[in-house]
Amino acid sequence: MRPDPDCRLCGLCEGRTQVVYPDGNPGNGIIFVGEGPGENEDLKGRPFVGKSGKILEDMMAAHGFGRADVMITNTVKCRPPGNRDPLPEEMAACRPFLFSELEDARLVVGLGKSACRNLMGYEGPMSQIVNVPVTIDINGREVLFIPTYHPAATIYNRNSRAALDETMRVVSQWLGRPERQEPKTMRFGGLMLDMDGTVYKGGVPIPGARELISFLRDQRVPFVFLTNNSSHPRSFYGDKLRRLGFDVTDREVLTSTIATIRFLLSQRMGRTVYPVAVPGVVDELREAGIPLVEEDPDIVLLTFDTMITYEKINRAYRFLKGGAELIATHPDDLCPTEDSYDIDIGPFIRMFEQMCQTTATVIGKPNRLMLEMAAREMGVDPGECVMVGDRLYTDIAMAQNAGTQSVLVLSGETDEGMLEGSDIHPTAVLGSVAELPELILQSFDDRRQPVAGHPTDPRGQVARCSWL
Ligand code: URA
Repeated sequence: MRPDPDCRLCGLCEGRTQVVYPDGNPGNGIIFVGEGPGENEDLKGRPFVGKSGKILEDMMAAHGFGRADVMITNTVKCRPPGNRDPLPEEMAACRPFLFSELEDARLVVGLGKSACRNLMGYEGPMSQIVNVPVTIDINGREVLFIPTYHPAATIYNRNSRAALDETMRVVSQWLGRPERQEPKTMRFGGLMLDMDGTVYKGGVPIPGARELISFLRDQRVPFVFLTNNSSHPRSFYGDKLRRLGFDVTDREVLTSTIATIRFLLSQRMGRTVYPVAVPGVVDELREAGIPLVEEDPDIVLLTFDTMITYEKINRAYRFLKGGAELIATHPDDLCPTEDSYDIDIGPFIRMFEQMCQTTATVIGKPNRLMLEMAAREMGVDPGECVMVGDRLYTDIAMAQNAGTQSVLVLSGETDEGMLEGSDIHPTAVLGSVAELPELILQSFDDRRQPVAGHPTDPRGQVARCSWL
């Protein structure tokens, strides 16, 4: 279903040269949705033929595909005057046409805010949702939707360019993938284990968690414990795990502080850092060779500083106002305690972002960086790793962001209701890590002797993978 060339369903008919119809090949089921045609598109009658189109084409080409492999369209088919964003009533008038274009889609990629507003109803900043897939309802059918930046938003911003590039990588994988996938057996090349709520709760090990570690050692499956909590140095977590009876070394723990240290050493080499951190973490940063300063830093590094003071907050504020970069170890708003939650660093990040008109670089989960570092540490390809955790929006989202496998355990924060209502999908769901050895052995058997399929029941079974 297409709009009439003389369509008059909304006010955009007044200023347009022509209706801009979709372009490309719908046959692969991959549809890119932009915002509205610009000046060049209006003149040529094709979406994305100007500067944004060039950026998009170059990025697609870098991943080995092009316009002929996907279909490209817009939320509205006529040019909004002065290249303004399409209005809600204009998108509503065009929606039946857009929905008919998406009818057979396997994957929809939303390029920019208007597409996300129109198709997800999302109004917030793109940085919060970029490359986190959700399902959207297209005429009663669930379709996978990946929100990402508009090519125009990547011109002066390296982070958004990297994010759009990542979207194109995912699309190229989809193009290489057969239409119908058989359910896959999980691959346990290496395991990443969240800690609180996953292997212990407060000061008590989850039953079966210690046995899991012995099992992994016996089976020679490498593992690493991951925590976003940057309120203690790595040795604290190693000590805690050993005190609880886990057979681990400090090197088998990756905290968001360690991940941030690696980021600083590789991506911000030589830059001076003002640390907002407890003394043990300050020592850890210093011992790792981070140049720490108390005046005029290049970077303000925010960790989970449980000894934060008004003085530190104010100093950080002044440094950021003076142009320092804001980097945070992780994004969590709350940190679980034995019987409740403590305020974590999320609210502080937002305060500094708002007060200093800046955007923090945030390293810990759900940033895929942390997973990639852990994979490198284990010497395993990220695609062969499995992230095991109890939080959808950090543990499972990180695996989803990295396009790898995950197991949600229901022994911590997430219950079945939260899982049902979520757009974040683990590969499998288990009651607790006690059930993991069986799943791992099963995957070894399946590798030797492929089986036809797996149950899709998420209760303790291998669920269908929602691979990206
Ligand atoms: N930007 C869009 O969103 N769509 C186009 O067609 C061109 C630029």
